[in-house]
Amino acid sequence: MKVYLDNAATTKVDEKVLKEMLPYFTEKYGNSSSMHLMGNEAKSALEKARHTIAKSVNAKTTEIYFTSGGTEANNWVLKGLFWKNQKLETGKNHLITTKIEHDSILKPCERLEKQGGKITYLDVNKEGFIDLEQLKKAITKETFLVSIMHGNNEIGTIQDIEKIGKICKEKNVLFHTDACQSYTKIPIDVKKTNIDFLTLNAHKIHGPKGIGALYIKEGIEMTYLLHGGGHEKGKRSGTQNIPGIVGFAKAVEIANSKDVKKMEKLRDKFIEKILDIPNTTLNGPKENRLPNNINISFNDVEGESIGGYLENAGIFVSTGSACMSNTLSSSHVLEAIKLKPLQANSSIRFSISKYTTEKDLDYLMKKIPDIIKKLRRLSPLVK
Ligand SMILES: Cc1ncc(COP(=O)(O)O)c(C=O)c1O
Repeated sequence: MKVYLDNAATTKVDEKVLKEMLPYFTEKYGNSSSMHLMGNEAKSALEKARHTIAKSVNAKTTEIYFTSGGTEANNWVLKGLFWKNQKLETGKNHLITTKIEHDSILKPCERLEKQGGKITYLDVNKEGFIDLEQLKKAITKETFLVSIMHGNNEIGTIQDIEKIGKICKEKNVLFHTDACQSYTKIPIDVKKTNIDFLTLNAHKIHGPKGIGALYIKEGIEMTYLLHGGGHEKGKRSGTQNIPGIVGFAKAVEIANSKDVKKMEKLRDKFIEKILDIPNTTLNGPKENRLPNNINISFNDVEGESIGGYLENAGIFVSTGSACMSNTLSSSHVLEAIKLKPLQANSSIRFSISKYTTEKDLDYLMKKIPDIIKKLRRLSPLVK
């Protein structure tokens, strides 16, 4: 049996998405910039997809720019705005973010610090929520951007972006949110929430990898990262990935609240059953949590060992963030919620999807108690 519980890392492409994409590889493969009929065919698919994505977050079609994924969109906002402010000599060089962002925010921040940027990394509480008062106090005349993720990829915390957007509007500061994990799971309305930039991608929602989008509120100018043939209104050059874009839009189109409710129900059942195993703790919040995220510390055992045993049983999970698992360093998110290193190292992220079933959960529950028992027997930490 194969049980895939690593859907926060990536998801299976939905058959309907694949079916929608295929003709754009083999029949309708024109370049959307070409002036002939096949180019027009690609161009109209591109604009239809742009419209679908715009509508899903209450943006205008002209405010959506396709990128190669969430990483590029995040890099674009941070670097593009910083460089624009540098060029205009506005004196704004301060960015506010959090300690629990994805690396595609934190690594660009490190780069900007080397170029004269000042970064404030907001703390989070034990459940991963920022303190809105700390945010208010951190905003200064030099602040050019507040970048706070919507749903956290490791512990599932959903920040109150409506309140954050309101604060940013009152203080007249631009607001960016990375919604790669929450998109189509938690409703997002860029107008109501005062969002100026929004990062989205497809591969977390049963769409293809290598495609994403950035919403840029109308009228905001920033420096571009990719110069070339002038695609995306000259702001993001590079021949558009039409199959990917069409698949992205289809994934958005078929996402629905019924699937979200199903995941929430299964998530809660999962958490309840797993916490029955002695000496286990839930990381992240009980409420305002991503519908597909379950993060558990199996105290006194090493997460990597649990992961290995689960893999042998055909169950695929993640220890910390998948993007970081190869470094084996302690997760910055678990560190930020003040888990002790041993507790952080004993954590496993189980992330479900609309394809996860009760049967999968039963199979996991058949396997995992014995694995934990065995590892605890071997653990030098258990007296
Ligand atoms: C919160 C978050 N932001 C950004 C990304 C990066 O997106 P992509 O893989 O499309 O570059 C991810 C994916 O791991 C993510 O979880």
